[in-house]
Amino acid sequence: MKRFPSNFLWGSATSAYQVEGGNQNADWWQWELDKGLENSGQACAHYQLYEQDFDLAKSLHHNAHRLSIEWSRIEPQEGEFSQEALNHYVKVILSLKSRNIEPIVTLHHFTNPMWLSKIGGWENKRSTAYFLRYCDFVVSALAKYVRYWITINEPTIYVSHAYIFGVWPPQVKSFLRAKAVYNNFSLAHIKAYQLIHKIYKDSGLLRPLVSVSQYVQAFLPCVKTLKNLLAVYIRNKWFNFGFLDKIARHNALDFIGINYYSRQLVEVKKWQVANLLMDTCRSNHDLVKKNSLGWDIYPEGLYNLLLKLKKYRLPVIITENGICTGDDNLRWEYIHAHLQNIHRAMEQGVNVSGYLYWSLIDNYEWDKGFSPRFGLIDIDYKAQGRTVRESARKFGQICETGVLEIFP
Ligand code: BGC
Repeated sequence: MKRFPSNFLWGSATSAYQVEGGNQNADWWQWELDKGLENSGQACAHYQLYEQDFDLAKSLHHNAHRLSIEWSRIEPQEGEFSQEALNHYVKVILSLKSRNIEPIVTLHHFTNPMWLSKIGGWENKRSTAYFLRYCDFVVSALAKYVRYWITINEPTIYVSHAYIFGVWPPQVKSFLRAKAVYNNFSLAHIKAYQLIHKIYKDSGLLRPLVSVSQYVQAFLPCVKTLKNLLAVYIRNKWFNFGFLDKIARHNALDFIGINYYSRQLVEVKKWQVANLLMDTCRSNHDLVKKNSLGWDIYPEGLYNLLLKLKKYRLPVIITENGICTGDDNLRWEYIHAHLQNIHRAMEQGVNVSGYLYWSLIDNYEWDKGFSPRFGLIDIDYKAQGRTVRESARKFGQICETGVLEIFP
């Protein structure tokens, strides 16, 4: 039996675009239409049904919930701020607070207002200034209710998918342009960190806790050749730790937020930058179980990464960890195995202070549409029905007791 601290944050995460529905002013909405992709449409109608969803989270003993604010609702046109949208998010936060659920609020989770995309998105030198103006509007209103802020969700995933691999809007494949966006993101985070702290200080509020949600992956060489080992080193630096290192150097982190899902087996074919960054092993050796998108399940990777985070000397919150699967027993196994590895890392001195499962409810999985099922709660998209999965109840017991049995 393993015991977690009594003040541990237990809960789950969502993002606005993936659950709310009706986000017509976001760049993703337009991209879905342009590409003929499955439309996010009304998604989980969480914009209307959030009370019901939070009741379920409460019944599952969650004491924390991560959600995001949709920038394109707050600022549908450049410089036009919607008081109505802001009021909505105040109500959402208060509805969590009234259930004693700690809100952890993300300011940017992959989507941009359409107007920003039209003027070059995060490549535009003024993107940071626009982001700060939006942050100021939102944080000033929510500061008295919120302590935990995530400025940007997975900056390196956004940069690589949208500007290197070219699979997300605006579908660019250019290292140079990726670098510009990466730099604007890091500047945006550092400045937003300072701004958020200033807002709290000026209002006499308790210090906020601000971070990013950094996607980390276990990179393993398929065979230990020089090329593969070098690629693992580079990928750790660029994809896992580079962004954190940069913002940590500017003292712009109060905790480390990480999202962990899977591992990548590295097998590099050529001595070229693109190959060093992207090649993976295609053969089916070293078999492990997979989620429904084919990602390897590799819980010990989380343990190893957590140990590497010790160098920052900051508390760590797992801001996302989860599995899409049609097999709910596998979901439970996944959660259990990851919690075991988190506990093991805590025994080695890593200060983990929370775990948020991705996701509370099934939702819109970006370019993959609605078929991947990540939720603790099943969504019937036609009827907007909710059904709590068995894995959610088992996880709920851990949230309630803080006790993890040795076997799932
Ligand atoms: C993202 C989520 C996404 C999840 C599963 C994370 O990278 O933050 O938006 O749904 O992974 O792919």
